[in-house]
Amino acid sequence: MMKRIAVLTTGGDAPGMNPAIRSVVRYGINQKLEVMGVFRGWWGLINEELKLFNHRSVSGIIGQGGTILKTARCAEFRTEEGQNRAYETVKKNNIDGLVVIGGNGSFAAAHEFYKRFNVPCVGLAASIDNDVNGIDYTIGTDTAINTALDAIDKIRDTATSMERIFVVEVMGRESGFIALTVALAGGCEDVIIPERPLDLNAVCHDIVHGNLVGKMSWIIVLAEGAGRADDIARQITDMTSLETRTVVLGHVQRGGRPTAVSRDLALHLGRSGVDCLLAGKTDIALGFSAGQIAEVDFKTAIRKKEYKIDEYCKLIKVLT
Ligand code: F6P
Repeated sequence: MMKRIAVLTTGGDAPGMNPAIRSVVRYGINQKLEVMGVFRGWWGLINEELKLFNHRSVSGIIGQGGTILKTARCAEFRTEEGQNRAYETVKKNNIDGLVVIGGNGSFAAAHEFYKRFNVPCVGLAASIDNDVNGIDYTIGTDTAINTALDAIDKIRDTATSMERIFVVEVMGRESGFIALTVALAGGCEDVIIPERPLDLNAVCHDIVHGNLVGKMSWIIVLAEGAGRADDIARQITDMTSLETRTVVLGHVQRGGRPTAVSRDLALHLGRSGVDCLLAGKTDIALGFSAGQIAEVDFKTAIRKKEYKIDEYCKLIKVLT
């Protein structure tokens, strides 16, 4: 019987992790469970940095970005020794199940941990990259996209006024989701993503052709995994002789108050995560898909995500 669970946030933080923690803690307590908070992700489990939470432990965090539990990328947890130590903490603290809030790297780790020690693990999909396979939306995606979009709208003002080309680098080491979404929503002219080969000749051809018909400003959104903004800008200037500016949005996209969409998702997933553990479900990630909460086994969740890249690319071009 499940009496005590623990919640942790791991990998890159995402806006909405705090409301997810709040939901797990308060709903868990409501369901007569004891809920422990683990600090700094897997590192906290390895080093026994955790404490019993109460209702008040999560007061006032619903609108805060980041995570009160802190988070980390923990190489030690990939070792057998690290996992053994984490399991010792689980046993010593009588933890019957884990709620792991994170992205696909976190779920790969949770899957390994479950396989080795049979500790029930349920994941809540949280990553600004929205790269969890089988899940349409993760906690934090909406906030990050809106943050990037806000910046793009501002860049548009100066790009139009000064008739310039801009390369705007957004986050996404392996995923072009943020880049594609903000490029479409921001009316940007081109997008460069890691999932598709870069054809800079075609980009430059479009810019020069655009110039000939009076289109003098251009915003190219670049996902970080597809190249560096400075390199791309230099090459564009070399090929077109046009001045090109760069903006790297970077970690600003990871912060800020979670939007209503990110909070709503986080609060619902928190409750569902607890319900799943109580129902004896394990080795699954929860996210939002096709209008409802989806349960995806960890093995599926960590595969390369398929989404409608070509449709986005075509629409961006057609609407330019
Ligand atoms: O969490 C995902 C992400 O934001 C990626 O888009 C980015 O490449 C990476 O994390 C950056 O990680 P870090 O903050 O550890 O450098």
